Amino acid sequence: MIEVRDIWKVYEKKGVEINALRSITLEIKEREYISIMGPSGSGKTTLLNVIGSLDIPTKGEVLFEEKDLVKMNDTDISQFRRKNIGFVFQMYNLISDLTAWENVSLPLYYDGVKDKSVRKEKAVEVLKKVGLKDRINHYPAELSGGEEQRVAIARALINHPKVILADEPTGNLDSKSSEGIMNLFEEIYEKENITLVVVTHERHIAERAEKIIHLLDGTVQQVEELKEFSKN
Ligand SMILES: Nc1ncnc2c1ncn2[C@@H]1O[C@H](COP(=O)(O)OP(=O)(O)OP(=O)(O)O)[C@@H](O)[C@H]1O
Ligand SMILES: [Mg+2]
Repeated sequence: MIEVRDIWKVYEKKGVEINALRSITLEIKEREYISIMGPSGSGKTTLLNVIGSLDIPTKGEVLFEEKDLVKMNDTDISQFRRKNIGFVFQMYNLISDLTAWENVSLPLYYDGVKDKSVRKEKAVEVLKKVGLKDRINHYPAELSGGEEQRVAIARALINHPKVILADEPTGNLDSKSSEGIMNLFEEIYEKENITLVVVTHERHIAERAEKIIHLLDGTVQQVEELKEFSKN
């Protein structure tokens, strides 16, 4: 489904080159559940952003169902992203002066769904799925961290993406909320027809997946195969 071929990402800071990614090649199959692990600075976020077309590699190809994302123009790429990819971030990235349902419905707005009542109905439906039917009109500041992340997950799901890319989704949560969020991801993964990629530096979170890609200094150090996850 997704093929990353010989990806390099070089940042230049004050004349010094930083190789954030160095010749990464990997494949993500449809319906796979993968974790990406590695120490701070090993390139996890950069790789996830390149896979999700939020960032352009300095060199290499990113093929999504055989289309090369690196070669797509800006308009096509944002449309492609909205349609196919749901992002979840460590800091939730919700808009503070929009309510839960308004945050969740934002991708629909960008997709040109003009009718507010249609947007609300769809957002409420997804908020129910993530267990927040009683928090629809709450603002982010009125929610717990775990609830904010559920809103972010609902927002990622609203366009029925093929892939969910999550960057340290439990990095800001206590262990109980983290467990709840990972259970939610896996419930969604089992029920919906999605591919799931989770970046984490916590071993116990990473090993819930079917495969762990270990990064070190911008390269794939090891691919660890774990047991297959039950799915329909
Ligand atoms: N915009 C940028 N400009 C310059 N260097 C950058 C930029 N973004 C990332 N880097 C560098 O690229 C390398 C990889 O960063 P990246 O954020 O991908 O690491 P990470 O594995 O996600 O780390 P963490 O676990 O701390 O989130 C680091 O050395 C970082 O300093
Ligand atoms: Mg990171």
